[in-house]
Amino acid sequence: MADIETEVLIIGTGPSGSAAAALLSSYGIENMAINRYRWLANTPRAHITNQRTMEVLRDLGRDVEQEAYLFATRQELMGETIFCESLAGEEIGRMKAWGNHPLSKAEHLMSSPSLMNDLPQTLMEPLLFKTACSRGTQARLSTEYLCHEQDSGGVTTTCRDRLTGKEFTIRSNYLIGSDGGKSLVAEHAGLPFEGRMGVGGSMNILFRADLSKYVAHRPSVLYWVMQPGADVGGIGMGLVRMVRPWDEWLIVWGYDINGPQPDVTPEFAAGVARQLVGDPDLKIELLSANTWTVNNQYATALSNGRVFCVGDAIHRHPPSNGLGSNTSIQDSFNLAWKLAMVLKGQAGEKLLQSYNLERAPVAKQIVTRANQSIAEFGPIFNALGMSEGVEPVQMQRNLAARSEGTEAAEHQRDAIRKAIAFKKYEFDAHGVEMNQRYRSNAIVTDGQIEPAFQLDADLHYQPTTWPGARIPHVWLYRSDNGAEVSTLDICGHGRFTLLTGLGGEAWITAAEQIEIELGIEIVKHVIGARRTYVDQSGDWARASEISDSGCLLVRPDHHVCWRSVGMASSPRTDVLRILQQILAR
Ligand code: FDA
Repeated sequence: MADIETEVLIIGTGPSGSAAAALLSSYGIENMAINRYRWLANTPRAHITNQRTMEVLRDLGRDVEQEAYLFATRQELMGETIFCESLAGEEIGRMKAWGNHPLSKAEHLMSSPSLMNDLPQTLMEPLLFKTACSRGTQARLSTEYLCHEQDSGGVTTTCRDRLTGKEFTIRSNYLIGSDGGKSLVAEHAGLPFEGRMGVGGSMNILFRADLSKYVAHRPSVLYWVMQPGADVGGIGMGLVRMVRPWDEWLIVWGYDINGPQPDVTPEFAAGVARQLVGDPDLKIELLSANTWTVNNQYATALSNGRVFCVGDAIHRHPPSNGLGSNTSIQDSFNLAWKLAMVLKGQAGEKLLQSYNLERAPVAKQIVTRANQSIAEFGPIFNALGMSEGVEPVQMQRNLAARSEGTEAAEHQRDAIRKAIAFKKYEFDAHGVEMNQRYRSNAIVTDGQIEPAFQLDADLHYQPTTWPGARIPHVWLYRSDNGAEVSTLDICGHGRFTLLTGLGGEAWITAAEQIEIELGIEIVKHVIGARRTYVDQSGDWARASEISDSGCLLVRPDHHVCWRSVGMASSPRTDVLRILQQILAR
């Protein structure tokens, strides 16, 4: 007999665990979240927050999304990614990033009701955690996961109360391992991994200093400093990252993973800061310093029986592209509604298999992308003449050579421009963030062919209602007050949604019958004149890829799971078939 019982036990209250807890509580599922520390993240690791993540927060509630914007640095201040010799020194080049190039901005605005922003993890975690606890999550801090055992009826987890030292057990129907990159849950569940941990070493130096005079005229989140012969180790490149504009900063500096772990003393930290800022008299207030390793590893199976892992527990990679926390929160968005429907008896356990099928490819995609982005700094180093093995004095000469009036210097400038522009695959990769299309037992295409990407799928999001893709965002208008409402707003919130147009009313009648038959709630909307939501701009008619009498079935996580381009001969037969298949009934 366990000491405590709950429906879902969540190990870890980072972005993935807190999001899972907030979503499960919002769906009415009893859950408990534990964290071995007495509070949440104490350093602002994750910060780039993409539109898809903000859509998850928006789904939790407009108040949750709005609170995130209150704390966040807004997108406009993230714009200029700078490459320079030091903040005070010469600028080598720059690129507009994170949806701030006018063309990219337009694509962002057209893709989502939510905005990209910079929200440090120290502010994101409390928001998600508060949302979870206020909606029912039982949280236990200073509580450490030790091990688990599962049987056909549930999971028994042994924990230690770190205040008393006492061990106790928690019995749950399901266990979520959201315990980060060194996940014990994933290890104990025997999840298979590919790739390697510890492929590089990095240190974080968090400090306060007013750097406005160096940066306010070129607002950015990231300032890359290339310094030949830097005498503080690393690879001759450091990152000065804005935490709060313009007086709180995080320096990321590499160290040789094969050497001893550096002792980041206050003197050392101040030295690195002065060197990268380029001000020998700079005074900093050091807040913290720590080291971490660069990883290149992802799980190829994300669950084992009743144990499911999310977040860094299943994808471990460098911060490039800012994908970690974002993907972690999105993993939980994929998993939570499935667990909720199974626990409510609305779906069979087979639905849970789709979590693996849908999110394992994403784990591989983002780990690969993030590591590739590191490698793609290579052409910049080469163009600057700062490749590995070149002596520092020669590096300095090569760097200076770019300002000469020679043909060689013109070639060099061209190579630098191209190499910097190519970094859009890291700093403006909207497609990587938004293009996930799922293939699994929880998606039914009925043989419809997947639309090919017209543009580079890493850089550009391409909306489609092809089953598996997230429903395209389009602004609709409320007929009673004219207010704008996104198509995403009328879907989600833990429920399936059926969308049709004028002439598609038979789908609504079918869904009403099936709701009773299957005991699930289906939200139903006819979009069109004199209905609650109208498509005055015609944007929905263009984006929906179905006729007015067709229908889209949208899952609680905004992904289309089936569509009919026109009216069917028996709407009830079709919708019932699809839902029975998806819900494993
Ligand atoms: P996370 O590691 O955050 O949380 C794990 C939780 O489990 C913690 O609460 C921990 O206490 C708990 N835990 C662990 N073991 C336990 C045990 N045995 N018992 C109980 N509790 C236990 N991402 C991004 O999206 N955008 C970005 O811009 C960046 N930038 C960035 C910069 C830097 C410098 C770093 C190092 C990382 C990033 N990231 C990022 C990545 C991001 O920080 C990371 O992906 C997320 O924190 C992962 O969230 P998780 O919730 O999965 O794990």
